Amino acid sequence: MSGDQEYTYLDYLEEHSEEPLLRVRELKKWYPVTENTVLFSRVIGHVKAVDGVSFDIPKGKTLGLVGESGCGKSTLARTIVRLEKFQSGSLYLEDQDISSFSSRKEELAFRKRVQMVFQDPYASLNPRRLVLDIIKEPLDIHRKDLSREEKRKMVIELLRTVGLEAYHALRYPHEFSGGQRQRIGIARALILQPDLIILDEPVSALDVSVQASILNLLQDLQEQFGLAYLFIAHDLSVVKHISDMVAIMYLGKIMEIGPTEEVFNHPTHPYTVSLLSAIPIPDPDIEKARIILQGDVPSPINLPPGCRFSPRCYKAQDICFKEEPELKEVRPGVWSACHFPEEGFEVLKFIGLEKDTTKTKTKKKAKS
Ligand SMILES: Nc1ncnc2c1ncn2[C@@H]1O[C@H](COP(=O)(O)OP(=O)(O)OP(=O)(O)O)[C@@H](O)[C@H]1O
Ligand code: SF4
Ligand SMILES: [Mg+2]
Repeated sequence: MSGDQEYTYLDYLEEHSEEPLLRVRELKKWYPVTENTVLFSRVIGHVKAVDGVSFDIPKGKTLGLVGESGCGKSTLARTIVRLEKFQSGSLYLEDQDISSFSSRKEELAFRKRVQMVFQDPYASLNPRRLVLDIIKEPLDIHRKDLSREEKRKMVIELLRTVGLEAYHALRYPHEFSGGQRQRIGIARALILQPDLIILDEPVSALDVSVQASILNLLQDLQEQFGLAYLFIAHDLSVVKHISDMVAIMYLGKIMEIGPTEEVFNHPTHPYTVSLLSAIPIPDPDIEKARIILQGDVPSPINLPPGCRFSPRCYKAQDICFKEEPELKEVRPGVWSACHFPEEGFEVLKFIGLEKDTTKTKTKKKAKS
């Protein structure tokens, strides 16, 4: 079936979706660019921030979404949590169409099930409120049936779950470190027992050691509560250990999507290869050839014709500047939007990553 020319990624999703919690189909979010004169204002173009994105997130699983700054990750996140309207496409949470809500009750039910954690743990918490009130706020909106004391107990329990102490409830956000603040943000996202948490670069503002502890916490919480995550990062190495699937995004589109191990160990899209070649490896035995991404990311207002990655691609050929490639199945479950996808094994040799670095590291740890 996968050799069939007509077989698209959408067909694949319909056939292979195991209990999809979230279904995103052909989602487009464009921002109008206007020219203003004294008399009128007119739309002269669009920022194609999200330009036809499709994927599923099954219950209890994590999709890692990676791409450079400005590629549309946060816009996609905000659109899914319905903070933004969108042009076209569809969004489903299980069987519920969440592109619009027919009543306030329906919207509240959705907001209970889908929560968001933001990148900046300093800006995302109200500095004038006690941690108790910050974490309790969603309960005040959604659980009017609970007493003040019941809510307080839930907050204390959750503070302990995320590795903080009961006495932290009576402090203000400025009294915490960045990592602790992110734990507070995670507690607030958890308090309504959601099914899906969208994490928009949750560890990007933190030191590497603190990043690791937050990633471990997120994994523990996922196991404990059966949560699904959309985990956004601009660094591939951050999503490697937490994601079941990885999607690589470039200028509003998914360039490659597949199981994490596959994408890391046998990348097929030149953009994924370029991102992988840029990850530093603290191992003197492994020498890497860097593929330096040429030039800047093109403007999302004036996208280049053909493949949007063509101005920066190390293997672009004539057709790449004329015809936009669609996602095609390169290996079972791995889809790549490229006219000349890599074989994976060959390209890993080229960038000096022919060994699976995960296994290399594990072996070394076991020896010591
Ligand atoms: N409200 C808006 N109005 C107009 N353009 C916008 C708006 N929000 C985002 N954009 C544009 O949409 C594109 C995608 O932005 P977005 O913030 O989603 O990127 P990102 O991948 O999250 O980047 P970063 O890694 O820097 O957070 C950018 O070109 C941005 O300038
Ligand atoms: S389609 Fe062409 S330009 Fe685009 S990523 Fe593939 S090889 Fe590079
Ligand atoms: Mg962002």
